[in-house]
Amino acid sequence: MEIGIIGAGTMGSGIAQVVAQAGHTVWLFDTQDAALEKAQAKLKKIMARLVEKGRLNQADADGVVARVKTSTDYASFKDCGMVIEAIVENLDVKKKVFQSLEAVVSKDCILASNTSSLSIASIAASCEVAERVIGIHFFNPAPLMPLVEIIPAVQTADATLKQARDLIDAWKKVTVVAKDTPGFIVNRVARPFYGEAIRIYEEGIADMATIDWALKELGGFRMGPFELMDYIGNDVNYTVTETVWTAFYYDSRYKPSFTQKRMMEAGYLGRKTGKGYYDYSEGASLPEPDQNEVVGEAILWRVLIMLINEAADALHLGIATKEDIDLAMTKGVNYPKGLLKWADEKGIQNVLDGLDKLYMAYHEERYRASVLLRQMAAYQRDFYPAPKEVK
Ligand code: NAI
Repeated sequence: MEIGIIGAGTMGSGIAQVVAQAGHTVWLFDTQDAALEKAQAKLKKIMARLVEKGRLNQADADGVVARVKTSTDYASFKDCGMVIEAIVENLDVKKKVFQSLEAVVSKDCILASNTSSLSIASIAASCEVAERVIGIHFFNPAPLMPLVEIIPAVQTADATLKQARDLIDAWKKVTVVAKDTPGFIVNRVARPFYGEAIRIYEEGIADMATIDWALKELGGFRMGPFELMDYIGNDVNYTVTETVWTAFYYDSRYKPSFTQKRMMEAGYLGRKTGKGYYDYSEGASLPEPDQNEVVGEAILWRVLIMLINEAADALHLGIATKEDIDLAMTKGVNYPKGLLKWADEKGIQNVLDGLDKLYMAYHEERYRASVLLRQMAAYQRDFYPAPKEVK
């Protein structure tokens, strides 16, 4: 099957590699010749490196490069079974692209968007055959991150969902299905990893190096929140937070922070600008954490229970299944353990008590515990009726 990709930037070029490595002919489309040239050069470089490391033989690498065909003409998509859009995050531009696409593809071609923050329903609404539109959300870098969130819109046909999931499973990705709601699974559930860490810093409880140390060394996370924000880019990370917050009708739980906003305004974007929360210039030394385990455990616990609260609430609201919520966080952002599994290990009552203590201290909506945690704790403690999520 031929697969089309619109947008040859960071995501489009990565997805093209995944699809070509799975054996498909790929039509990679962009309005900018320079973007196409850059994507091709990048692919060649990556393939050469894989050959050098012995992960791929030369013939297979040449095959991958040959299968990615570049184009600036929509007509190239006419024989595609699926087209994935990965252009600029702008609804009006995306709608126009989907309309141009529908004019050339066959009627059973699946049309997918890699959008991180727009609703799939609003994109599907611009198409004549909305039932074939679906969200297919890869993570950066697409060839390395196993997770793909699949998001059916209210208009999407069941057959579209099944075909899309089967296809992406065949590309050896880990697929999860998410409801068409802001942030889908990962970008919603992960918010406190950044937000609560910044809050702890703003309140002067610990410095950034200590917070990063606690999450990494005591929590087992691969990167600390500040390191990770510097890696993602404070502009990108701030924008995701602000978008999710706005999309949730300004729910204070997702409120962005001034600390990060100022970093973005100052151009302290992180690794890509040489300065973020940390200094990446040559010869600069990184600050030492205060390795006090009592403080560290308290920091880890506060961030962890906030993450668990988001995961529990996402389950309660039917955003995804228990299994998919845990898979999403381990395979999309490398969490050391699924948050719902973690909650069971720590004890639901303990998590709930931790959240209630924060709520009592601050009286902020931010710390309100998900009703699912309360129901689960009552069920485990007092044999209350089991909540619907308990099978
Ligand atoms: P990017 O800026 O690296 O690439 C966008 C590409 O689209 C550029 O090459 C541009 O020339 C092209 N383009 C713009 N308008 C076009 C049009 N009308 N027709 C054809 N090509 C057009 O952007 P990036 O980061 O790859 O993001 C693309 C999409 O993927 C966005 O919807 C974003 O929200 C989503 N996404 C981004 C992730 C990331 O970490 N960067 C992660 C997951 C999703």
